[in-house]
Amino acid sequence: MGRSSPAVVSRTATGASRYTSRSILAAWNPSMPPRQRFAVFGHPITHSLSPRIHADFARQFGIDLTYEAIDAHPEGFPEAVHAFFVEGRGANVTLPHKAAAFAMADIATATATRAGTANVLTRLPDGRLEAHNTDGDGMVRDITERHAMDLRGHTTLLLGAGGAARGVAWHLLDAGVGTLTIVNRNPVAADNLADAIGDPARAHTRYWEDLHDIGSFDLIVNATSAGTLGGGLDLPVSIIGSRALCYDLSYGKSAAGFVGWARGAGARYAFDGLGMLVETAADAFERWHGKRPDTDPVYTELRQTYG
Ligand code: ATR
Repeated sequence: MGRSSPAVVSRTATGASRYTSRSILAAWNPSMPPRQRFAVFGHPITHSLSPRIHADFARQFGIDLTYEAIDAHPEGFPEAVHAFFVEGRGANVTLPHKAAAFAMADIATATATRAGTANVLTRLPDGRLEAHNTDGDGMVRDITERHAMDLRGHTTLLLGAGGAARGVAWHLLDAGVGTLTIVNRNPVAADNLADAIGDPARAHTRYWEDLHDIGSFDLIVNATSAGTLGGGLDLPVSIIGSRALCYDLSYGKSAAGFVGWARGAGARYAFDGLGMLVETAADAFERWHGKRPDTDPVYTELRQTYG
């Protein structure tokens, strides 16, 4: 598949960005059924790459769709979702709505249920709204397949215990990490996550204040929202093991602080979550369209653009 044609962005009545493709626009005529509507909800959402990724995937199969970025304030999120799903087929959900998305769904997959958060909402044929979470699968696939790293036996430090951390914690254990040490600024949230996992032999918590003397790790996952919120993390170099892989679940500017720190501190590998974003989008796309997109060209193009 060659490079996709440039996406067209137009403003919707709600002020959201709407992506489709020029080739699709050219081929469309009024006698055709209406385009399937998809969206991503977040706040803020302006810089979301999801519309572009889904437009690229759709072009791989000649699927006719629209994919909007909808900025919804937390208090207006359920109402905005219901309004969208009058016509909409599916929606991705990002910060800060993942827990609310899970809570408002009629049913949830096992993956979303154990995380208690959702990044995919799907209108089922019977009208019910289904919550699903693709974060963990996307992250593990990015690490093990794109970056060809074997996670089995890795001592793992999970920084954060919010929605993002809950979305990946079980998948790290399923991928075979040896231990999962959960450290969160608020220790109660870390304990809650460890209790929910219920695997004390492998998953346990430590205090953030003790980071400087809890040893080193093979894998360090930054699942905090510090970078997204414009802040930084003051992490000791001592947590980086000799073969350490440092991975930030966010990408772009949000991940720059942690990834830069990891490289400067001597981590053997340091990745942001751009590949995870593309993989999670592919899982949502397959759920909605029954087709598996090729993520590599989309990832390569985004990486060239976003560094
Ligand atoms: P998300 O969906 O991105 O996980 P969240 O559920 O609000 O968002 O969780 C944010 C996580 O980032 C939490 O673990 C939070 O720690 P607290 O539970 O102590 O609030 C963590 N976090 C945010 N800013 C942080 C900072 N400056 N330092 C350390 N942890 C931070």
